[in-house]
Amino acid sequence: MRVQGRALQNQDNSDMVAPMGQCPTTHKAPVQPPQTPRLYPREQDVFMNPELLARYDGIRVPRYTSYPTAPHFNGAVDAGQYRQWLSGLAVDTPVSLYLHIPFCESMCWYCGCHTKVVARYQPVAEYLEQLRREIDLVATLVPGRLRVGHLHWGGGTPNMVAPDDFSAVMATLRSRFELTGDAEIAVEIDPRTLTPGHVRAMAGAGVNRASLGVQDFDPAVQRAVNRLQPYETTAGAVAWLHAAGITALNFDLMYGLPGQTVAGCRDTAERALGLRPDRLAVFGYAHVPWMKTHQRRIDEAALPDGPTRWRQFAAIAGALTGAGFEPIGLDHFAAPGDELAVARRAGRLRRNFQGYTPDASPVLIGFGASAIGALPQGYVQNAPDFHRYAEAVTAGGLAVTRGLVLSADDRLRRDLIERLMSDLAVDLGQVAARHGVETGHFDDELEKLEALAADGVVQRDGLRLTIPEAARPLVRVVAAVFDPYLATSQQNGTARHSRAV
Ligand SMILES: C[S@@+](CC[C@H](N)C(=O)[O-])C[C@H]1O[C@@H](n2cnc3c(N)ncnc32)[C@H](O)[C@@H]1O
Repeated sequence: MRVQGRALQNQDNSDMVAPMGQCPTTHKAPVQPPQTPRLYPREQDVFMNPELLARYDGIRVPRYTSYPTAPHFNGAVDAGQYRQWLSGLAVDTPVSLYLHIPFCESMCWYCGCHTKVVARYQPVAEYLEQLRREIDLVATLVPGRLRVGHLHWGGGTPNMVAPDDFSAVMATLRSRFELTGDAEIAVEIDPRTLTPGHVRAMAGAGVNRASLGVQDFDPAVQRAVNRLQPYETTAGAVAWLHAAGITALNFDLMYGLPGQTVAGCRDTAERALGLRPDRLAVFGYAHVPWMKTHQRRIDEAALPDGPTRWRQFAAIAGALTGAGFEPIGLDHFAAPGDELAVARRAGRLRRNFQGYTPDASPVLIGFGASAIGALPQGYVQNAPDFHRYAEAVTAGGLAVTRGLVLSADDRLRRDLIERLMSDLAVDLGQVAARHGVETGHFDDELEKLEALAADGVVQRDGLRLTIPEAARPLVRVVAAVFDPYLATSQQNGTARHSRAV
């Protein structure tokens, strides 16, 4: 759950549902490979043939922050199962922790995350009590004092937590878990509500990475999404963090927002670079008003169309790669010396609920309403409903209400999809060997990939698949070919995903 990935956790929960539709089967207008190798295509060539783009624009696919994706979690995994899994953890396995703070001071109309606007502090204070209870309980269920290499506060807005309370929760965590000396401790921050007191508490508690919600610097766009955040506010937050020694910073930018223009996106990216982040996440606005009713306040007529979204992404990507940032997977960018870029070059980049991470830990323990955890046996998710979460924890129990037990086939496909999403390439022969299946295992999928290959969305060399640079944003369309759950959700109508482009 590293900061660069931030808590799209809950957005991605929802992301998963909606039929992708059939992969296009006609083969006109292949994407031209770039003439000269470069990190990222220029705006003019990423904007492919409009006919081809239109075809992919209609496709709805998951973002694969997990496989299987969260909409396929089920009630077969409950608190009792989780209790058993926790007690079976190896005490020497390093773990990662995620804390979900589902509160914000005001609602951004684009928001796809699991959060709630509160006018008073009392619900936050009560929630923190429950969070500490949950931490205490989990710590007594695991077989010893577990080592933690990564800790991530996500939301919502973690800086809704008052500085003293932040320090108190961190003290609880440190008393229950062994945070390693070099542990990454990351916090998502809304610059608009950050105070020097927060920054002092964070630095004092060992926070060494922060992710700032920026989205777009254009006041007109900010007005259209109910998030007024002057450039100076972001710059001020950065200055406080730098002065406190928290210099590893991610910015979240968005494209596809109402009223956004290609030039405006480029301008935002350039101004963001001036504030010296080392990572940027560039999210395409996922408009899912059937799930997030506040998104209905967004003027759909002002939303950019598919080709414009593509060009907006390309403009941001061009500005960032032009400044030396390396593209990471679907939607992240990192400075060459940043751990994420180093992990990508070494082929050990991972994908998790918050996005991309260098964190290699096989165990993620989630705390808080809606938080997702990943254990060797499978996934668990706490009740998203505050009352249900509070009830379970106050009664001294765990709040897990659903999850998924991983089958051998799930593990194989999880491995394959994670490599594809992280490396933009995968060797199916190697995946087959790692999981003890014949190479012919993927014959059906390879046949389905032919149409995508003809369109230039994927290149095939024997059993090695590569996503060409110009098709980077379509990597999840290729991943979806290996996802048998998607067909189920299409059939029963349970799944409605955000757009692929
Ligand atoms: C949980 S938010 C945390 C940020 C923090 N609360 C703030 O407001 O600054 C994480 C990020 O998710 C992204 N995000 C939220 N809703 C989204 C949506 N519907 N589509 C795409 N990205 C979204 C935004 O970039 C946001 O900064």
